[in-house]
Amino acid sequence: MLQELNRRFAIGEQLKFEIHPSGLVQAKINTDKCSGSFFLLGAHIAEFQPRSQSQPILFMSGEAVFEFGKPIRGGIPICFPWFGPNKRDANAPTHGLVRTAVWDVLESKLTASGVLVTLGYQSAPFRLSLTVVFGETLDVTMNVRNEAATEQSCEVALHTYFQLGDARRATIVGLEQNEFRDQLTGQIHAAAGTGIRFTEETDRVYRGTASVVTIEDEANSRSIRIRPRNSYSTVVWNPWVAKSQRMSDFGDDEFERMCCVETANIAPHNWIIEAGQSQSVGFEISASSASRN
Ligand code: BG6
Repeated sequence: MLQELNRRFAIGEQLKFEIHPSGLVQAKINTDKCSGSFFLLGAHIAEFQPRSQSQPILFMSGEAVFEFGKPIRGGIPICFPWFGPNKRDANAPTHGLVRTAVWDVLESKLTASGVLVTLGYQSAPFRLSLTVVFGETLDVTMNVRNEAATEQSCEVALHTYFQLGDARRATIVGLEQNEFRDQLTGQIHAAAGTGIRFTEETDRVYRGTASVVTIEDEANSRSIRIRPRNSYSTVVWNPWVAKSQRMSDFGDDEFERMCCVETANIAPHNWIIEAGQSQSVGFEISASSASRN
């Protein structure tokens, strides 16, 4: 399988498929623009670091489990076709079915922007594709086609974990004018008018669009910019102390060095896709090393 993947999709030293120590198939990207990696399990982007940056953009837990059928704690898990617990079936897995499924490679090529890879997965009645460009920026597009004869409802989140120098000194800017649902209380809050700071467990779904969401990582003197496309929900999450302790695949103090900003379409902004039609959601992530510029 590995030989076949490399024969069809490797691009010299710039894109290679390997077996991760866990036994999972992992692709490694190494170009003059960036380094990165992804797993076929979950089409999971695990690493991304532009050459201009001295540190990774994506956070990966030191306790992450790499195992067939289990989600990976860090990088970019894909939540689909539902976000969070399933509303009709309490036994169904959190965040849907595709982050723990093995995807196929559909295409790879070198473009002016970087290494482009498209992965695909069929989660009936949906056909999914994820196109990623590893360049100076990380550009991700997920496309969902409804192959059923009737319209279908679904939710999606690109659940990105970002690495921070110190979550206590970070600010998320760009969602000041968006109302949000506090996932911990179920309450809807009016737009706060100020940037988001982390001082406790934070689990919010911001509603409406944002043209750019910036993570001001003061401790690392860097800004990470997320430019979402076709996204009407943004999840902001930090598990803080007690929840970190409850998660077996996450270090007790790792909450201090990460946060999630998730580009999403979640109820009431879930997708309704007509029979035979498609929807897509995506983002571009870039970083600059001086904060507040
Ligand atoms: C976030 C949710 O997106 O994901 C949180 O808003 C959840 O409620 C978190 O705890 C992690 O979920 P999981 O299933 O990966 O542990």
